[in-house]
Amino acid sequence: MTFAPSLEAVPRMERPLLSSTLLSLLMSLGLGWAWSTPDCTIADSSLLSNISYYIPFCSLAPGLHLFASCSNVSDLAQTLTALPRRLDALCLQGTVPVLPADAFGQFPTLQLLKLHLGTVRITSGAFQGLDQLQYLFFEHPSPCCLSLLFPPDALKPLIFLNSLSFQGYCLNSSQNIQLPLSLSRLTLRHSCLTDLQELQGLFPSLVLGSSPTAISSPWPAFLEVLDLSANPQLSRVGVKALHGLQLHSLRLDGTPLSVSELLGSGLLHLNSLSLVGTGTEKLPGNVTAYFELSALDLGRNQIQNIGNEDLSSCRSLERLSLHANGLHSLPTRFLSALPQLQRLNLSMNKLGPTLVLPEGLVSSSLRVLDLSHNELSALPSGAFSSLPQLKELWLGGNNISNLSSEALEGLRWLKTLDLSWNQIKVLKPGWLSSLPALISLNLLGTHIENFSGLLLQGPKKLTHLWLGSPDILELYPPWPLTLLSLEVWAHTYVEFRVPQGEPFLFLENLTLQASYVLLQPSNNTVHFPSLRHLTLRGCSPIIFSTHKSQGFFPQLPSLEHLHFWSNHEGTEGLQLFGLPRLRVLELGGLDCLSASRPTDLEVLLENLPQLEVLALSNLNFGNLSISSFRGLGLLRLLLLNSEWALGLDSSLQEFIPQMPQYVYFSDVIFICQCESSWVGPWATQAPNTFVYGLEKSICMANASDYFKTPLLSFLSGNCPDNLELQSFLTSFTLVLLLIIFALLGCPKWPWLHHLWTLFHAWLWKVGGWNHRSQYHYDVFISYCSQDQDWVLAELIPALEKPLPAGEGLRLCLPERDFGVGQDRMEAMAASIDSSKATLCVLSRQALGSPWCNLELRLATYHLVAKPGTTRLLLLFLEPIDRWQLRSYHRLARWLQKEDYLDLPRKSADLEAFWDQLRRTLRKTVQDRED
Ligand SMILES: *[C@@H]1O[C@H](CO)[C@@H](O)[C@H](O)[C@H]1NC(C)=O
Ligand SMILES: *[C@@H]1O[C@H](CO)[C@@H](O)[C@H](O)[C@H]1NC(C)=O
Ligand SMILES: *[C@@H]1O[C@H](CO)[C@@H](O)[C@H](O)[C@H]1NC(C)=O
Ligand SMILES: *[C@@H]1O[C@H](CO)[C@@H](O)[C@H](O)[C@H]1NC(C)=O
Ligand SMILES: *[C@@H]1O[C@H](CO)[C@@H](O)[C@H](O)[C@H]1NC(C)=O
Ligand SMILES: *[C@@H]1O[C@H](CO)[C@@H](O)[C@H](O)[C@H]1NC(C)=O
Repeated sequence: MTFAPSLEAVPRMERPLLSSTLLSLLMSLGLGWAWSTPDCTIADSSLLSNISYYIPFCSLAPGLHLFASCSNVSDLAQTLTALPRRLDALCLQGTVPVLPADAFGQFPTLQLLKLHLGTVRITSGAFQGLDQLQYLFFEHPSPCCLSLLFPPDALKPLIFLNSLSFQGYCLNSSQNIQLPLSLSRLTLRHSCLTDLQELQGLFPSLVLGSSPTAISSPWPAFLEVLDLSANPQLSRVGVKALHGLQLHSLRLDGTPLSVSELLGSGLLHLNSLSLVGTGTEKLPGNVTAYFELSALDLGRNQIQNIGNEDLSSCRSLERLSLHANGLHSLPTRFLSALPQLQRLNLSMNKLGPTLVLPEGLVSSSLRVLDLSHNELSALPSGAFSSLPQLKELWLGGNNISNLSSEALEGLRWLKTLDLSWNQIKVLKPGWLSSLPALISLNLLGTHIENFSGLLLQGPKKLTHLWLGSPDILELYPPWPLTLLSLEVWAHTYVEFRVPQGEPFLFLENLTLQASYVLLQPSNNTVHFPSLRHLTLRGCSPIIFSTHKSQGFFPQLPSLEHLHFWSNHEGTEGLQLFGLPRLRVLELGGLDCLSASRPTDLEVLLENLPQLEVLALSNLNFGNLSISSFRGLGLLRLLLLNSEWALGLDSSLQEFIPQMPQYVYFSDVIFICQCESSWVGPWATQAPNTFVYGLEKSICMANASDYFKTPLLSFLSGNCPDNLELQSFLTSFTLVLLLIIFALLGCPKWPWLHHLWTLFHAWLWKVGGWNHRSQYHYDVFISYCSQDQDWVLAELIPALEKPLPAGEGLRLCLPERDFGVGQDRMEAMAASIDSSKATLCVLSRQALGSPWCNLELRLATYHLVAKPGTTRLLLLFLEPIDRWQLRSYHRLARWLQKEDYLDLPRKSADLEAFWDQLRRTLRKTVQDRED
């Protein structure tokens, strides 16, 4: 390990301290940086919503994005120190015996906490400081149960807690747990609850006057949802067990409780009752009537027959699910007996083959009817005419082959019609004529091979359409202009007939699943000016070909998300052009061990200036090098999945300052090679980048190497220390340190703001690779005050004076050309940016000065980030062994021999020196002018 000279004085012992101080400093500045932590995933689900497909995930509530999910946690404090402070959600799995007081205080913005920690003792102050927490889950996988002693006042600090859940824990040794007033959802699943009465002792505030010691609140307890599902021993209710609780919804799925006992529970109000999978054989009429239930879920039971008399007590129901009950028929008065019914789910029953509509199937209130998977094959005419208010009709997974317009008569307000996975082969024009309000139509999995837009006439505002047929599908105009979303599946090909016009002016989402997508006539093009999301599954990469006769998408000016899984042709030759706004690119090959040639990333990613998210799966890259990532200045997430024999070239080190915030390796097998030896130190110390998945990766020496060599132990055991990277990271850290100390020393707080903008907008990202700045100066001169005399007396005149005395160059000198009071950091960055060359005057003193170091660093970054725009020259005033400048070692990659200049000691050599300097600068200036 080596350090920049300015810190040589720091004793060795203090180094770890220094870097941890730096870390906490950065964290406290709210930069949210993170070093990688083994066994944790940190991700921002707003970047890639499908990330759970690739990496361990923390199930999230809507609106939560930044999460950390850690497994195999044993030292809680150690795991937590490495996580960013601004987490929305945290999931922990492992074995932690004690949750100490203030365990999560460093995550003040946490809204969701899921703990999967085995037998854990919770200290009463464990959740201090989590005053934004809304969801708290304790989970243990079944079989039931672990004992959990929960302190009565542990939840007190959680003033916004909304949901509390215990799964797989026995709470029977806990008492008097005080629930926050904000709580609206309480779950006890897979517990050892046997009697509802036990809730009184556990949560006295739920029940009125249950315990004299409980602090009774002045108003009755209220819960939105009480979920006691999956409690196989919960068989007793107990008298007045829930006395006084105002409850909206009760879930007793998978419990052996006898429902009618609920009548004695003391509950006065209940809107919704769920009894899924309880073995119920009859409609629970008296409970429904007693509570005037508005929603009843009886899915997966054995209610095969319903008698008219059962219905009389169910008049209050607005929502009823009889999903998967083996129902053969409906009683004649079914709907007229349920006048309030709005949603009826009869899916997965045996009502077919002919929908026998009981006489009197009249309901003026029914909005949603689900008849999917019922073996229906014929719909008589006017089948639904007695349901004038119907908005959604689900008929998927039946055997319907013929559909006449008469069958759909009277559905004036129908918005959603699902006919997917039926045997429909032919539809007649006008079949939708009685559905003027239709907006969503699903015809996936039907057998229509020629689909004409004429079939869609009738609805005025059709926006969402799904079409699919087993083998081929040909689509003919005219297309409804109102379409916003279109999904088309066919096994072999989908062909669009586009004689003229711009049929998809407003389409935003398009999903195609077919090997080939064709256009007819083939010399035509079809434009998608509004397309924002494109998903292609199993398609040939030809779809993006630039050959007019093969390509399907000439350009997609608004496209932001592209998800492309190729067919067996891999991604060979895939080129993405005309996608100026693409932000998210997910690319995958389908074959697990495709023998196709390596994908050339450099070509593939050449023209995607706005790319923020890149997820690549199963593409066979071979070796990744820096050239693959040039031009991706905005990249925030890089994910490599299912790669076989991946090499990470040593040139990628130069990409480190621009490395995306999140880098994930999932299911990647590397090549055992020392070229990648920088990876180990990088993954454990990378500033600004969270790296996941290297600890568990293995590498192989050649194609027939089946030893599971862990990558990191191969690198540390077989490759010489990567001093270059070590020193780079160290000096990189130092630069940050220097900058931060400089800023902290400055009384003006706006500096901090500059720091933020500087790092994010300029240092390694935006300021970017994409624009050539205008040059105001020829040469930016960097020197430190100790060398100022020489610079002013010798260097400046020689370069600045007009010819022939000098070279007539426009110089930028910080001391002279920066405005008074101008922000020095900013001015320096801007000046380097707008100079054709940077000349660093170096002496031992200069190298000891933080500012000179910084300037040198900045110039180096420009060299890396904007190759070709600026040239860096180093002028040594006294002999310094360059190989001792370990921290600048990486410069060697970028500098040529002519870029180093030494001030000669003998005055006889001076003339040659000035000549060389002028010549070099003149050439640089001329080159940049061309
Ligand atoms: C997630 O990704 C997988 C393949 O990687 C794909 O099959 C699936 O459809 C995706 N899901 C969504 C919601 O995009
Ligand atoms: C969990 O961590 C222990 C050491 O802390 C280790 O021995 C074990 O292999 C890890 N288990 C997994 C599944 O990573
Ligand atoms: C809690 O329940 C478990 C399982 O039903 C039982 O073995 C245990 O004795 C109970 N503990 C107390 C304190 O009631
Ligand atoms: C409720 O109905 C069930 C069966 O339908 C019956 O056994 C029970 O006695 C009834 N309870 C009351 C209170 O009417
Ligand atoms: C398009 O797809 C995205 C992502 O799946 C979704 O959020 C959006 O609502 C869809 N837009 C339309 C018009 O369906
Ligand atoms: C496409 O080719 C056909 C003949 O093959 C020609 O009639 C037609 O005008 C061409 N269309 C376009 C848009 O070039």
